Amino acid sequence: MRNILITGGAGFIGSHLVRLMVNKYPEYRIINLDKLTYAGNLANLKDVENKSNYVFVKADICDFSMMQSVFTEYGVDGVIHLAAESHVDRSIKDPFAFAQTNVMGTLSLLQAAKLAWEGKFEGKLFYHVSTDEVYGSLQPDGGFFTEKTKYDPHSPYSASKASSDHFVRAYYDTYGLPVKISNCSNNYGSFQFPEKLIPLFINNIRHNKELPVYGKGENVRDWLFVEDHARAIDLIFHRGKVGDTYNIGGFNEWKNIDLIKVIIRVTDRLLGNPEGTSLHLIRHVTDRAGHDVRYAIDSTKLKNELGWEPSLQFEEGIEKTVKWYLENQEWLNNVTSGEYQQYYEKMYGMK
Ligand code: NAD
Ligand code: DAU
Repeated sequence: MRNILITGGAGFIGSHLVRLMVNKYPEYRIINLDKLTYAGNLANLKDVENKSNYVFVKADICDFSMMQSVFTEYGVDGVIHLAAESHVDRSIKDPFAFAQTNVMGTLSLLQAAKLAWEGKFEGKLFYHVSTDEVYGSLQPDGGFFTEKTKYDPHSPYSASKASSDHFVRAYYDTYGLPVKISNCSNNYGSFQFPEKLIPLFINNIRHNKELPVYGKGENVRDWLFVEDHARAIDLIFHRGKVGDTYNIGGFNEWKNIDLIKVIIRVTDRLLGNPEGTSLHLIRHVTDRAGHDVRYAIDSTKLKNELGWEPSLQFEEGIEKTVKWYLENQEWLNNVTSGEYQQYYEKMYGMK
């Protein structure tokens, strides 16, 4: 495989994956295809945008004829599909956008891949990057999600991702399209849009703004450093078994309220504030509708079959992450003000 199409490469996880692939595989051509929604920011990729093995294409995955042209023009022989609407709170307000992009967009890409590769599936691959939220919600002492856990999505976001996973498997079972799927837990790290818990709270602490904790803050999430997720995707893409699913997670569960206290402690220390300074910013607000109680991933299969393990301890990852947001205030300002959306125009001279 030489021409790898990465969708959603201007987003949080996608930009880390594009950086890894462009730097690690100079022999590949990495085609980053992204619609540049509010969550897409080409400034995330400044360090690779001039590399000779990197190409950016501004396009909507729902545009089927455009997807067909991209497969033909770039001779795509591998797809890593991340483009999606990804924020649960937005899905509660506007579920249609999630069905459109996550379901119809994935179907459009699958069909473009099938038609482009028909009769020559050998050596081709369609890899779908998915989420642990498709498995639903665990009780506080209710075990782990494995690759065999039945799907039970609750939010419009997770319902749309579950549906896209089903379509990917349907293309494998029905047409023999070579596919892989991974389902990962919550990611944290640099370049995450500051509507998600960790960057939002770091930014709010810096500006002495309230920290809205949904409900009692008892919900549990399983956190993984984003660069470890990107390494896992690279490994599964190259060495995972066609037709298989892999769970990705770091066995790193935190109650939201405990995690928030860690973020406050680390951020206050790095800002030079006495310990506990920002605790008063915590506000318990109305809970998220249908808020899943607990996610916890069992990633034993990935460890046993492919030898993957997270590279960072959580304290180290959080320290790195808080530091990055504090040192990249301009990136945060550009994102929160909308200034980042001009970057594409300045860089590529068109809308
Ligand atoms: P993100 O919201 O930061 O980025 C999504 C990217 O997709 C953006 O660059 C956006 O412009 C692009 N995009 C959206 N709609 C598009 C369309 N119609 N056509 C082309 N591009 C479009 O998301 P993220 O957090 O980086 O997540 C990436 C993928 O990983 C998603 O599929 C998500 O479901 C999955 N995932 C995320 C997490 C997490 O913790 N963030 C965990 C597990 C899985
Ligand atoms: O589990 C993987 C999923 O993790 C991904 O598939 C999603 O794309 C990603 O957005 C993330 O979903 P969450 O809903 O878990 O992430 P979020 O950062 O929005 O919220 C994390 C937890 O913090 C969740 O229990 C809700 C809570 N929360 C969130 C925000 C934004 C708050 O208490 N207050 C907040 O302001």
